[in-house]
Amino acid sequence: MQTDVNSNADILKAIMGSYPTGVTIITTEDVEGKPAGLTANSFVSVSLEPLLVLFCVDARAGSLKAFRQAGRFAVHILAEDQNEVCWRFSSREPNKFDDVEWSWSERRLPILPQSLGLMECQTVQTVEAGDHTIFIGEVVHIEKTDKNPLLYFRRKVGSIPPNWFE
Ligand SMILES: Cc1cc2nc3c(=O)[nH]c(=O)nc-3n(C[C@H](O)[C@H](O)[C@H](O)COP(=O)(O)O)c2cc1C
Repeated sequence: MQTDVNSNADILKAIMGSYPTGVTIITTEDVEGKPAGLTANSFVSVSLEPLLVLFCVDARAGSLKAFRQAGRFAVHILAEDQNEVCWRFSSREPNKFDDVEWSWSERRLPILPQSLGLMECQTVQTVEAGDHTIFIGEVVHIEKTDKNPLLYFRRKVGSIPPNWFE
């Protein structure tokens, strides 16, 4: 057990880095009417009745203001072949949408095609929690495919190992 050299925050980061998750890209519309979004693995489902999900945004994220002001967001659960777009949306690149395929949905949310699943959500609550803001949304539109997910583990992304289901 490490207790001395690292701060508790470093230890927490190391533990959570070894906690495998799926990966999402969450998008919205900014005040200028342009698409905004980021890669996030803080996404979880919360409730089935009503259908609620949440994700957390770092206070330093450029897209935080857009999520606050739009009051709605689209969650893309990434498929295993979407590693390129995963890293693109985790960068500080101001024009993330320039070189990727996307379109506006009926609810005017930026949609990236080819994801495993899509949830368009109306924000119902935000909670300030330390250096993050938690966005809780009600799912108003949902789509699913049978693709395999992209996984995140120790700063790398990859597919489910071939022998996983044996
Ligand atoms: C796998 C992965 C998961 C991430 N999860 C989150 C997250 O849940 N919340 C968050 O604020 N940032 C998360 N990030 C970092 C953001 O994607 C990154 O800070 C991005 O540059 C923010 O973009 P923005 O400044 O344009 O909003 C994650 C990055 C990666 C690679």
